Amino acid sequence: MCGIIAYTGKRQAKELLLDGLRALEYRGYDSAGLYIPESGMVKAVGPVASLVAAVPHEFLGTSGIAHTRWATHGAPKEANAHPHTDDLKKVVIVHNGIIENYKELKEMLAHKGHTFVSETDSEIVANLIAEKRKTAKSLVDAVTESLKELRGTYGLAIMAADEPGTIIAARMGSPLVLGIGESENFIASDPTPIMRHTKNVIYLNDGEIAIVTGTSYDIFTLAGASVARVPEAIDWTVEAAEKGGYEHYMEKEMMEIPEVIENTMLGRVILEEGRAKLGGLIDVAEKLKSAKRIIIVGCGTAYYAGLVGEYLIESLARVPVEVELASEFRYRNPVIEEGTIVLAVSQSGETIDTLEAMREGKRRGALTLGIVNVVGSTIARESDAGVYNHAGPEIGVASTKAFVSQLVVLALFALHLGREREMSEEDGHAFVKALTELPNHVRTIQSTRGLIEKIAPTYATTRDFLYIGRKQNYPTALEGALKLKEISYVHAEGYSAGEMKHGPLAMIDKDFPTVAIAPQDSVYEKMVSNIEEIKARSGRVFAILTEGDVYGAERADDAFFIPKTHEYLSPILAVIPLQFFAYYISLAKGLPIDKPRNLAKSVTVE
Ligand code: AGP
Repeated sequence: MCGIIAYTGKRQAKELLLDGLRALEYRGYDSAGLYIPESGMVKAVGPVASLVAAVPHEFLGTSGIAHTRWATHGAPKEANAHPHTDDLKKVVIVHNGIIENYKELKEMLAHKGHTFVSETDSEIVANLIAEKRKTAKSLVDAVTESLKELRGTYGLAIMAADEPGTIIAARMGSPLVLGIGESENFIASDPTPIMRHTKNVIYLNDGEIAIVTGTSYDIFTLAGASVARVPEAIDWTVEAAEKGGYEHYMEKEMMEIPEVIENTMLGRVILEEGRAKLGGLIDVAEKLKSAKRIIIVGCGTAYYAGLVGEYLIESLARVPVEVELASEFRYRNPVIEEGTIVLAVSQSGETIDTLEAMREGKRRGALTLGIVNVVGSTIARESDAGVYNHAGPEIGVASTKAFVSQLVVLALFALHLGREREMSEEDGHAFVKALTELPNHVRTIQSTRGLIEKIAPTYATTRDFLYIGRKQNYPTALEGALKLKEISYVHAEGYSAGEMKHGPLAMIDKDFPTVAIAPQDSVYEKMVSNIEEIKARSGRVFAILTEGDVYGAERADDAFFIPKTHEYLSPILAVIPLQFFAYYISLAKGLPIDKPRNLAKSVTVE
């Protein structure tokens, strides 16, 4: 995700800011930029090294702000990179987060004569502050007034061209930390870029603003109340900081899931109406209303997300759905009739099979949609319309948070289609309520992951696993098995539990354990029967059950509990323990969790 570093003090800012950007590279980014009031602004697409090459040797000034951007609104290009300024180049900002109401604000500012050069939501913040500054008593008053009009999330560092040395920081939803040094102060999105200069930090809370100079910092709330805060000392190593204190990116990314769900839903749920609002689909609204059939294409984890999507869309919206492996679809001579949508699901947006499958759909006249995490990627650009995941960069090869965000987008998509069709307002409300409860449910699961950490090593020498589930949790079984395969190199097969008697049951013995996904839903009793059948053949069972399910737990050897949720949202919760299970088994085996052998994060060749 985007990174911020800002400096004010006595030293020359250029090298400090560039070093800070290098330290933020681990967060993932596609462009970078910096601003020093006395010298100006430089931006570059690509690695920080490209920015370093672009900054003139003499770029003097003892304060400035800098940013690594991971695109959320607008493709990765220089005009969209941060810092952003108002049209008169008086106010300069760097921003992390998403401004939900940027379109309304942009319109309002355009009426007042402001012009824009980027496609970002961030540029409006600089213009809004500049607009308020025309009548406000001070820069900070203009900032405070502006923040009150923003909806969404932000971590902001703000400077004015005519006030070098002063930086204003503001936080709502996107982390910001102040680094308090000797006659110099820093602002950053996390401690990584500042801890080499000072270990004394102050984490800003949501709704707080700080005025920072080289020798002072004042913190107050949006309402104007002063906040007294004493710096705390951090004891992270630089390496630990890059992974947010976690040992692996995969663990960090799993722990980000509650926030990812919130970001994926941000501004997309209309609570009062029990509806979803997907801005990226507005231009194709009419075609969506009359859609007769949806074909979802994807590979690996994204394909499994599509399988869950099939249950969601058919049940909520009553539109027929087919899900195809993209690598099969593209060579299959598929039948595409009037009213067919081809929906490509891809974290990277670059997977060649998914891209070609989508292109095949387009050639045959389908409306093409994308559910993509990487903004500006090829699938995002070439699809007719789409929805971004907003999951942030996923660095671990094993997809975890992106899978969950794909499920959340598919749930929102199903809700959107459903409410446009037959889904009642009451059902819409119940579904929205269940969606908004998910982040806390995931936090509950994360807080009990110690149990999985304890049992996983007892399975670490197992050679083969079966994963079973039914209905919407059949794909969860497939995804759980894939996670184990890719990071622990253990053979694991996902099966529909109803298929057990048609073959796989023959393999069951005491050395062939089964992971059974059996939450209390409409197929719970059938799942319990499957568990009993396995137990009767001496098979060991690790069951994923609903909180309080003593009956199920008594039938399994090991059990992990997940909170109750809407039946069709249960894969979002059930997959979390399976991700942890694969993680801890791989950890016990001492394998390279983030970069498993033979695999790449983005598969851009067939
Ligand atoms: C998931 O853990 C895998 N690494 C892999 O299956 C991945 O989901 C697949 O390659 C598709 O990638 P995409 O989402 O970037 O298109």
